[in-house]
Amino acid sequence: MAYQNSSNGRALRAQDSSDPADGRGSRAPSAEDSLSRASLTRDRAVPFIVAIDGPGGSGKSSIARRIARELNLHVLDSGAVYRCVALQAQREGFTAKHVQRLLEGKLPETRPDHWGTKGSIEHLIRIAREIDVRFEYDLKNDHQTVFLGEEVVTKDIRHQDISTLTSFIAQVSEVRQALVQKQIDLAGTGCVAEGRDMAKIFPQAQVKIFLEADLVETAKRRVAQDAHIPLELVDKKSPLFRQTLKLLRERNKRDSKQMSKSGYDKRINTTGKTLDGSTRKIVPLVVAALDHYLSGSEED
Ligand code: DC
Repeated sequence: MAYQNSSNGRALRAQDSSDPADGRGSRAPSAEDSLSRASLTRDRAVPFIVAIDGPGGSGKSSIARRIARELNLHVLDSGAVYRCVALQAQREGFTAKHVQRLLEGKLPETRPDHWGTKGSIEHLIRIAREIDVRFEYDLKNDHQTVFLGEEVVTKDIRHQDISTLTSFIAQVSEVRQALVQKQIDLAGTGCVAEGRDMAKIFPQAQVKIFLEADLVETAKRRVAQDAHIPLELVDKKSPLFRQTLKLLRERNKRDSKQMSKSGYDKRINTTGKTLDGSTRKIVPLVVAALDHYLSGSEED
């Protein structure tokens, strides 16, 4: 597993951090300063991690990618790792209904096949252990390519049936366990890691943020994103909006089992904020943490 990042790292200035910080005339480090130093994380024994969690639609992915682009860090899209497991599981015969029944203990654990485990929790765990996921990022153009083995699955893993299957599979604790080391490997020496339980996977992360957002707004964002229309044009009475709201509510309910606000240093509510607005709140925190990290105090 490896990362490639073809960004040339154009940085926006972090306005909040460009004022004199300590009253002694010195300037707080800007995003640009840190950008030129972010590559230094690869020389460190301890990785530099920004952990971002929050419910679906809270802006995790967009904000993580924006921060990564500004500071020339990688992104760990942990949801994509789970989605790849679901895609592979679907190809091997699993459906959301089947996994739901397995979780409820309503299906026999094993059915005969040449492993003797087809359709069982063990089968899912094996898929999670064996899966080969790789990302390629073009941060400049904000484009991520997801590879499952040699196959590009960027679009396949975003289908609604895969989203639903993923949220059931993600409830299997042994699957989560099997994916811990993969996520640590994918994080490399420095990244913005986004997804459920990132503070648990990376307890040593230098920045840990939990994003929150109002459910109705998250559904509006999802519809606007899928339909490529501005947020203001989303019709809250439309069947599409209602269906999206319903699915998000159900998914957040399932995901809430994996989601804990504890372990995060800061909570940020993104309701009513633009992507730029939320990013501007977070970048100065990351810049300060990166400079603290690079000053050497986190080398051991
Ligand atoms: O963030 P996302 O929508 O791509 O996540 C897809 C599903 O995977 C979602 O139901 C939550 C789950 N997930 C998880 O349980 N743990 C993670 N670290 C990331 C995602």
